[in-house]
Amino acid sequence: MNIIVTGSIAYDYLMSFPGSFTEHLLPDHLQRVSLSFLVDTMDKRRGGCAPNIAYTLALLGERPRLMGTAGQDFDDYRRWLDGAGIDTTLVKQVPDKFTASFFCSTDLTGNQIASFYTGAMANAGELSFHGVGRCDLAIIAPNDPGAMIRYGRECRDLTIPYIYDPSQQVARMSGDELKDGVVGAHIVICNDYEYEIIREKTGMDAAAMLRHSEAVVVTKGEKGASIMLRDRTIDVPAVTPHTMADPTGVGDAFRGGFMKGLAAGAGYEVCGRLGSVAATYALEHMGGSSHSYTWDQFRARYEEHFGALAF
Ligand SMILES: Nc1ncnc2c1ncn2[C@@H]1O[C@H](COP(=O)(O)OP(=O)(O)OP(=O)(O)O)[C@@H](O)[C@H]1O
Ligand SMILES: [Mg+2]
Repeated sequence: MNIIVTGSIAYDYLMSFPGSFTEHLLPDHLQRVSLSFLVDTMDKRRGGCAPNIAYTLALLGERPRLMGTAGQDFDDYRRWLDGAGIDTTLVKQVPDKFTASFFCSTDLTGNQIASFYTGAMANAGELSFHGVGRCDLAIIAPNDPGAMIRYGRECRDLTIPYIYDPSQQVARMSGDELKDGVVGAHIVICNDYEYEIIREKTGMDAAAMLRHSEAVVVTKGEKGASIMLRDRTIDVPAVTPHTMADPTGVGDAFRGGFMKGLAAGAGYEVCGRLGSVAATYALEHMGGSSHSYTWDQFRARYEEHFGALAF
């Protein structure tokens, strides 16, 4: 199946401060803050929703096309994605900008101070589905809000079925903007918190979304996921990880597994289960794309929990 994955492409710079931020935030001196924390570890990780989703699809044997904007510092990341079996020809590098970057320092008590630099992601609206050739399925994952709206409209014009996945962007998009993506989506996917925000902002609940979409998928962390269809709801259990390393990218891995099911022509129950298995691998490793498995290993793990898989 010819799949296009759109969404943010980013680097995550994760630092740890061997102390407590709050000890340095003096209540009497907040009118002028000039603080520098000497951090003793820094990790630079490949991040962004779109590469994470595409990575799971590639692990599962698909060859998704990644569509997004990145900066002058993207060459290493591109090589790595190419090596992982992802087609990066639709990624546009903006020469005078850096790739979107998430800088986060965590102290010993788990407090975090973070900044997200949009960088080249702000140019995502310059990309278009017109001219990409055949596309059987697309996902619109968190990205520059204007780009997300544009991609939805283009997919509808070109009759490309799309999964609308606004995730964390529900916080900054208006009700009208969200509605624009929801209405006409083949499938809407979000977590339970985001579902409530979408419902509040758009006034549309799952029943209203299902007048336009075939399925509404709401993930619920360790409680699994609910797949709402017009005539029934399927509850999919989560797969407990062997060890819990890091939740980064768990939602993206679920989406990749779910889309593998769609690509294989599986029913929604199997799609959801594939998502649960893909998600648990992500939980067992640091970052959203440091885990790896073969199809046989994945299949065995699926069958251990859910019984025989037909493909
Ligand atoms: N603690 C967990 N144990 C097992 N599976 C989990 C756990 N947390 C998440 N999952 C799996 O991942 C799926 C997506 O998780 P969740 O609903 O937390 O997404 P999210 O909040 O969008 O995550 P993200 O932080 O990546 O944005 C769940 O439906 C489930 O299958
Ligand atoms: Mg999420």
